[in-house]
Amino acid sequence: PELFEPERPNSVGFDLTDLPTLERLDAARAPFRNALWHATPLIAGKARPETAQPVDNPFLPKDSPGTVAQASAADIEAALSAATPWEASSQDRGNVLARAADLFEANYGEFFALLTREAGKTPLDAVAELREAVDFLRYYGANAPSITPAGVFTCISPWNFPLAIFSGQVSAALAAGNAVLAKPADQTPLIAHRAVELMHEAGVPFTALQLLPGAGTTVGAALTSDARINGVAFTGSTATAKRIRTAMADHLAPGAPLIAETGGLNAMIVDSTALPEQAVTAIIESAFQSAGQRCSALRCLYVQEDIADGLLDMLQGAMKELTLDDPWELSTDCGPVIDQKAQSGIAGHIAIAQAEGRVLYQLTTPQSGTFIAPTLIRVKGIADLEQEIFGPVLHVATFKANELDAVIDAINDTGYGLTFGLQTRIDDRVQHVSDRVHAGNIYVNRNQIGAIVGCQPFGGEGLSGTGPKAGGPNYLARFSATASQTSSA
Ligand code: NAD
Ligand code: ALA
Repeated sequence: PELFEPERPNSVGFDLTDLPTLERLDAARAPFRNALWHATPLIAGKARPETAQPVDNPFLPKDSPGTVAQASAADIEAALSAATPWEASSQDRGNVLARAADLFEANYGEFFALLTREAGKTPLDAVAELREAVDFLRYYGANAPSITPAGVFTCISPWNFPLAIFSGQVSAALAAGNAVLAKPADQTPLIAHRAVELMHEAGVPFTALQLLPGAGTTVGAALTSDARINGVAFTGSTATAKRIRTAMADHLAPGAPLIAETGGLNAMIVDSTALPEQAVTAIIESAFQSAGQRCSALRCLYVQEDIADGLLDMLQGAMKELTLDDPWELSTDCGPVIDQKAQSGIAGHIAIAQAEGRVLYQLTTPQSGTFIAPTLIRVKGIADLEQEIFGPVLHVATFKANELDAVIDAINDTGYGLTFGLQTRIDDRVQHVSDRVHAGNIYVNRNQIGAIVGCQPFGGEGLSGTGPKAGGPNYLARFSATASQTSSA
């Protein structure tokens, strides 16, 4: 048989089980342990001298990684006037994006330090994040289409993948030849600023990529309600996506594309034939890696009641092994949540469950830092979850053998449809369940996080996203002028 030869290799990343690799990673980030960065609006390549305010470190409030100057209304106006689509051949655009990927990789020590100090990422998460960012740049660059760009595209990203999603949206819009106005998450402007500097260094024209740090309610709102914007790529909560959709309908040309990737109420079903060790590993990774701050993370576990007691005992045993500590430490499994607002919101949800006697298990919370200790909460079913709880909180329900289809119906009834996991050794069941569950990414007998660019296109349906999937073959076409015409039809 012919061997499969990808036209573009994914990043090799770092093998964190290899001691020399760990030492190399540690040495590369060490010079940035106390470094200070400064993010400003970048308008036609020029930094704007605005008043700066400190950026927080979620683990150590006194270790601010730097300062940010928010974009003013005048900056937004200047960026809109300067924005110019990238006039180069698709091959030249692809080459520049590939060069940006090389620069990202060359600066890995600085990115690992920034990802930890600005976003609380553990080394494992920082490695995965850089790898995904590099893969997006190379994937969209290698597939840069010869199409007419939409024009000016706004890209708005969340803090939980401050490098990967920020760079993914921006590089897709650029690969299609658009002028990009990038608004990073309020919490993570420094990572975005460094990424834009490296993309400019690689050869992206200053007027094709401009950075506008600032709050969603001001800068984000302005960048989604101006008739000069031809399309918006947004990743974040479902509530914000709805606001953006309304603003676009009121102010942008009819049919301007909105590519929205949003939240999920993600479930996993573990039936009585599942391999318990495999299921427990998959549950721990899916629910607690990245402190549960992934849109793909597992929120509601359904265990067949015949095996529930044994499986939940094993799960608690595995949770006890998790290290909650300074995310800079190589031994840390679970870092802090992003800020005090997130911490108090999640803690409030747990407190209600505690008062109702539904907390099955909780690890001990560290004294300092915005930690939420991984927690198991009993629920009757997924319908008990009123909203996405964006942290290391896993809701657990049981089901009887004859209730499988009712469980699937309940999962579909949430209206979300991002990731779904199934643990079973019954082949027919895999087909039966995957045919019925409404979810963008379905994972069988493994964890349900960490989709790989180009191999596992990622995106949801229903309340979880508009499609098409990021890192997949249909994504770039949405950044073209034809996409606007198609959606207005
Ligand atoms: P968020 O919706 O609060 O913010 C996302 C971005 O939108 C930020 O840059 C914010 O400043 C901006 N924003 C806020 N209000 C705005 C407005 N009125 N107009 C324009 N922009 C506005 O989300 P978050 O807390 O940063 O991120 C977490 C959420 O993102 C979770 O719901 C998670 O599931 C989701 N997410 C989804 C995916 C995916 O691929 N489906 C990936 C990562 C995160
Ligand atoms: N792409 C990220 C994941 O799959 C969100 O976890």
